[in-house]
Amino acid sequence: MSKELVIKNIFITGGSGKVGSAVIPELMKAGYKVRALRFDNEETPEVTEIMDGDLRDKTLAKRALKDMDAVIHLGNCKENRELFLESNVSGTFYLIDEAKNCGHIQQFIQAGSDARAGIYYYPRPFPIDENFPHAGYPGYYPLSKVLEETICEQMRIQYGIPITVLRFSWVHGQDDILAHATLKGPQWGVPIWKEIAETPEQKRFVAEGLDAACRMDHVDGTPGMRHIVGLPDVVQAVMRAIGNKAAIGKAFAIAAPSPFTYDVLSEYISKKLDIPVLRFSVPEFNDFRHDISFARSVLGYAPTYDIFKIVDEAVAFRKAGKKRIDTKYIG
Ligand SMILES: NC(=O)c1ccc[n+]([C@@H]2O[C@H](COP(=O)([O-])OP(=O)(O)OC[C@H]3O[C@@H](n4cnc5c(N)ncnc54)[C@H](O)[C@@H]3O)[C@@H](O)[C@H]2O)c1
Repeated sequence: MSKELVIKNIFITGGSGKVGSAVIPELMKAGYKVRALRFDNEETPEVTEIMDGDLRDKTLAKRALKDMDAVIHLGNCKENRELFLESNVSGTFYLIDEAKNCGHIQQFIQAGSDARAGIYYYPRPFPIDENFPHAGYPGYYPLSKVLEETICEQMRIQYGIPITVLRFSWVHGQDDILAHATLKGPQWGVPIWKEIAETPEQKRFVAEGLDAACRMDHVDGTPGMRHIVGLPDVVQAVMRAIGNKAAIGKAFAIAAPSPFTYDVLSEYISKKLDIPVLRFSVPEFNDFRHDISFARSVLGYAPTYDIFKIVDEAVAFRKAGKKRIDTKYIG
């Protein structure tokens, strides 16, 4: 029998980002000692130790992993042709390679993404699960997520590095769902409704600055289906994975309890905000649904943020007058 994981000290990257800034307080509450990588002097939640640095720096990993038992790697520059190879791909390699060299990292949690499987861009098995091979959609970000995971897989095969990959679906916190699915919102995510407006009614809404709950349809008029995830459920997945011996060497799809369809979403937002529904026909979109049963059974992952709860919290966020922090869209 391999020995149990004893994790007390965690090095986290991306701790100032959307996922990291929600994960850190939970790690601290759970009693872990957390060393957070701070990049570009970004605001970072309270941690045991801040380490300023850049994932592109080859010398960082040795300092960063010193005395650590685990790594939670969330740092990523997203869609950026100039930076993704150095920041995301080399950055991941440097950390895992140091985990190999130092020999005291008991678990390395890597943030994966459903972008690695080309969801919505290409037709996919329904539902899609972890066994579907890497085949990202166009863009440097999906390429990066595939390369990051490939490094993880090989370093696990070649050197037995204890890696856990959590493949998040599109993460929604604050008022993200309204920013995505209303016309007057910041137009966050794809499609960008204002850009695809083509019918006289759609154009009038845009020209007059009217708001609407946007419903994405297929060309036959049936509503599109998408499977996103609420930020608190992502945090739950990380907390259930850390220190969990059964999670070592595995990749997990992390998504909401169920997918949503745009008819249900747009009608719900319409009622909540008292705005009309505006329908858009989008030929390029392929429905997708994640099979999260593996995370449920191995991690005990029990997501609670269905689309209604995600919308309710987004509405509450706006009603409370909270200020939205812009985040980069692509998962
Ligand atoms: N947000 C999503 O919808 C989503 C979906 C699937 C997967 N993911 C993955 O989860 C992880 C976290 O995503 P997020 O949404 O919190 O990202 P984010 O963009 O909010 O935060 C990323 C963090 O990485 C840091 N970073 C960027 N370049 C760096 C560098 N060179 N050195 C050090 N730090 C650097 C940034 O400063 C930022 O704090 C990423 O790996 C992302 O690919 C996110």
